[in-house]
Amino acid sequence: MHFHLRPLVSLALLALVPAGLTAADTSPIKVGEIASLTGKEAAFGQSSHKGTLLGMEELNAAGGIIGRTFDLVTEDNQSKAGESATAARKLISRDKVSALLGEVASSRSLEIAPIAQSSKVPMISPASTNPKVTAAGSYVFRVCFIDPFQGTVMAKFAKNELHLTKVAVLTSVSSAYSVGLSKYFKERFVADGGEIAIEQKYSEGDKDFRSQLTAIKAAGVGGIFVPGYYTEAALVAKQARELGITAPLFGGDGWEAPQLLEIGGSSLEGTYYSTHYSPENTEPAVQGFVKRFQARFGGETPDAMAALGYDSAFFLADAIKRAGTVEPAAVRAALAATKDFTGVTGHTTIDANRNATKAAVIVTVKDGHFKFLKTVAP
Ligand code: PHE
Repeated sequence: MHFHLRPLVSLALLALVPAGLTAADTSPIKVGEIASLTGKEAAFGQSSHKGTLLGMEELNAAGGIIGRTFDLVTEDNQSKAGESATAARKLISRDKVSALLGEVASSRSLEIAPIAQSSKVPMISPASTNPKVTAAGSYVFRVCFIDPFQGTVMAKFAKNELHLTKVAVLTSVSSAYSVGLSKYFKERFVADGGEIAIEQKYSEGDKDFRSQLTAIKAAGVGGIFVPGYYTEAALVAKQARELGITAPLFGGDGWEAPQLLEIGGSSLEGTYYSTHYSPENTEPAVQGFVKRFQARFGGETPDAMAALGYDSAFFLADAIKRAGTVEPAAVRAALAATKDFTGVTGHTTIDANRNATKAAVIVTVKDGHFKFLKTVAP
């Protein structure tokens, strides 16, 4: 008899609402966010969180959507393996969030994605570029490009603009992002006639890269591709210069953080990396965002993660608005149907694999600063 209770109660409640009228839900829409606010990649989490928060605040200041404001519930995974999965479960079962935003790092998004999928809670990664993230299923989306594209962009840049024919690749084997980007770079560089003269490995958290760099130096390469995160990339650059390696170093979006320059200093001069956005973009929408972000966060200039975090908030709001509800299946369908969504990181169209097709930006380090070099269309 027990299980009859619930349907009977709901039927009784339904009877109280006059025919043709349903009581509108005006409670805030709970959105879960998972970010590395502390720990090794705190720069990623702090930036994406600030961007997401600013987006949510702006949406709320404008009255919210479908008659409801947003309530952002943020969980810090401390940059630690395993914590993102715990946070996702907590946000879904305890907080009953309508959607999940996060993570930046691909390895951590790979923890969240299967949980979002099996719970049927739409998930949007602002910045994870490894293709496997969205392969977890129909509820998993991202607002950034993926690494087969980013790898191609940097392989072509190395060949056509740095005029490199023989390079070294130094991969972090404990990062899904690094392993993937390394693979896609190599495939394209070799397909275009280039040679990968030597491959070396490291793990997240390593501090000494001298033996790998000594081997790379002996191989006599024209450049070194370092598809890793900023802490290790900066140490690699420093130790490479100390060992007398003058060949240009270049990497991907994992380099993007002010800490890259703080750790690596002058050894970063003349290096290059691909990313998602530049605050130097003169588009009024981008400059408006930069100004509002600076006003909100003590003059800080938003980086790519901040911009992607901001876009992820509006991207979700746009889908909920089109869906007219936070019902997960409807939001999922609306997210999948997103076409030419305009954000501060460009125009996002969601493809059949729930990835975004959009342009990349190449940045160089000059006189101790990040400098926009060019935009590469998909
Ligand atoms: N793309 C990286 C990853 O998938 C994360 C990242 C995004 C880092 C944007 C910096 C800027 O792990």
